[in-house]
Amino acid sequence: MSFLTAEHMTGGYGATDILHDCTIKVEQGEIAVIVGPNGAGKSTAMKAVFGMLPLREGRVLLGETDITAMSPQERVANGMGFVPQTHNVFTSMSVEENLEMGAYLREDDFRGTIEQVYDLFPVLKEKRRQPAGELSGGQRQQVAVGRALMTEPKLLMLDEPTAGVSPIVMDELFDRIIEVARTGIAILMVEQNARQALNIADHGYVLVQGRNAWTDTGEALLANPEVRRTFLGG
Ligand SMILES: Nc1ncnc2c1ncn2[C@@H]1O[C@H](COP(=O)(O)OP(=O)(O)O)[C@@H](O)[C@H]1O
Ligand SMILES: [Mg+2]
Repeated sequence: MSFLTAEHMTGGYGATDILHDCTIKVEQGEIAVIVGPNGAGKSTAMKAVFGMLPLREGRVLLGETDITAMSPQERVANGMGFVPQTHNVFTSMSVEENLEMGAYLREDDFRGTIEQVYDLFPVLKEKRRQPAGELSGGQRQQVAVGRALMTEPKLLMLDEPTAGVSPIVMDELFDRIIEVARTGIAILMVEQNARQALNIADHGYVLVQGRNAWTDTGEALLANPEVRRTFLGG
């Protein structure tokens, strides 16, 4: 039994199904990556896992708990953290205020978690009083990841965390994500940098038109001739 089991998901927006019998699983402490062409339904799958999309069929289990009927907020309380693809920081608020917002569900002292986020992303400590909107793209993504870590999630979901950043910044962000996974947190990540993401992935899911096209270890997908030809550009 996987830590996250999102299985046979079918659903979409209004009457149009985007996901068709889509299944995504993540084990504790592992990095699972969803890749696929633009419009394949990667973000839609993330929204479905997080409870932002009603499913017509399928279910989502976190640990042994069936969370299919839970709101996103209840899922956060149950150990999910989500960094959406867009609008993932409050630009007019300071870096530290963003992190504090991330802890809104917590009633205990979260100061220690802020310090952990600063240890992971030292530049955020330097810039803690600056409005997040003044930071570079890569630094903003660090704020978004840090904000999601504030609830101490057991599963961290990231939708295209490296969108719009340079290759060097991407590598660095991936290193930090590996570091987070090593603490035992499960990572589910959508990435458009497919090769690099599959390189660090324990498991990869290639989605095409809302369906599971290939599912395997990151290594096996990178070596799969058909995946290479049709999706990785040879
Ligand atoms: N809010 C929405 N309302 C209606 N259709 C949407 C919405 N968001 C996405 N879609 C459609 O769903 C499909 C999958 O989109 P998305 O999940 O964003 O793909 P990906 O993240 O793989 O690029 C696309 O055809 C897109 O146009
Ligand atoms: Mg997307």
